[in-house]
Amino acid sequence: MQVTPALLQRTLAMAQAHAEVDPAARAFFAPGRANLLGAHMDYNGGSVLPVALSRGTCALFVPRGDSLLRLESTQFPGEVVETSLAELRPRRTDGWSAYLEGGLYVAMREWGECGGFDIYLDADLPMAKGLSSSASVESVAVYAVSRLHDLDPPPDLMIRLAHAAETEYVGVRCGILDQTAIFLAQEDSALLFDCTELTREHLPLRADQAVIAVADSGVARQLAKSAFNQRVAECTQALAFFQQRLPGMTCLRDLTAEQLQEFGGGLETELRMRAQHVVSEKLRTDAGADALRRGDLVAFGHAMSGAHISLRDLYEVSTPELDALVESAWSLPGCYGGRLTGAGFGGCIAAVVAPDAFDDFARELPRLYRHATGSETEVLGFSPAGGPVEWQVPESIRSQWQP
Ligand code: GLA
Repeated sequence: MQVTPALLQRTLAMAQAHAEVDPAARAFFAPGRANLLGAHMDYNGGSVLPVALSRGTCALFVPRGDSLLRLESTQFPGEVVETSLAELRPRRTDGWSAYLEGGLYVAMREWGECGGFDIYLDADLPMAKGLSSSASVESVAVYAVSRLHDLDPPPDLMIRLAHAAETEYVGVRCGILDQTAIFLAQEDSALLFDCTELTREHLPLRADQAVIAVADSGVARQLAKSAFNQRVAECTQALAFFQQRLPGMTCLRDLTAEQLQEFGGGLETELRMRAQHVVSEKLRTDAGADALRRGDLVAFGHAMSGAHISLRDLYEVSTPELDALVESAWSLPGCYGGRLTGAGFGGCIAAVVAPDAFDDFARELPRLYRHATGSETEVLGFSPAGGPVEWQVPESIRSQWQP
């Protein structure tokens, strides 16, 4: 018997509550992601090591028969956005609908219009918490438009389009980590992706080896867009400094520890710290990838915890709450390691936990975190999931809809 995902059921219920639904309606899903290593490396040309999560965004596309777009999200009740295909254009805002509009805009620019729709969005991913809830929305829009045109484009094109939605339409200068993690994801593996060479390798990370535990610090990401763009600008400045001394260098990930030592003295302290993070994170990502190839979760977790310390001390994107949460996680039996995930400035941590220790971990972490901060958290357990899919609307529901 076909199982209807709870998220699809919720999305369908929202649509049915609003109107009679056309039987031609189609439902699409794109996951969120947790980046395990390679923090802030994508826009520095380095390698990243994410997994896709089994939670994400569902988008139900109901054809309207005109060229209007009516956008509705369960996360923002009452904030219905009505626009038209002709009105979509980059507006550099990050209101909830910008991510959806951006995905539709870039996809229709690439493949052409495919009519107006009522689009219902729902997500079971904590929002704006470092799990790529926004890239998940952009990606589901790009994927949906490709399927509505009956296309099967290469993932690299969809990555480029979903990334353009974020950089051109929303105006965040991010790298391609999130969209790559979403479109290239495979179950039971982490993706090692080189953001310069665009090479990829799926490394084993099965449910019987580890659970990816995600816990929310409860701190909303503050100044995420401006502080993130500031880090990108700092790395650009650091790169320009080293390029004057090392002609031919194209991205900061090319910098070695020896070159940093030799030339970094003249660099402003903060910029040198950012460069130190990049140099050391490259080594940790390489070490973590090797560890996964060997199935050595202890070494992998060690690299993740090192990444957190570097993000805290050198890249300065952690918060006291994220530090308390990750330190609590580290102290628990069966936790191989963990770090803040996503850009930082609040949001979630991701930890890698031995499967037989996970239940105790999930029970104890909230207790330790409450003790340390007075705040609550909840632990979600994941194993690496696959990329975007079309979800079949059950016939029992479809048959009730009006033609
Ligand atoms: C955000 C950005 C990504 C990446 C991470 C940090 O999630 O969207 O492109 O830079 O931060 O690793």
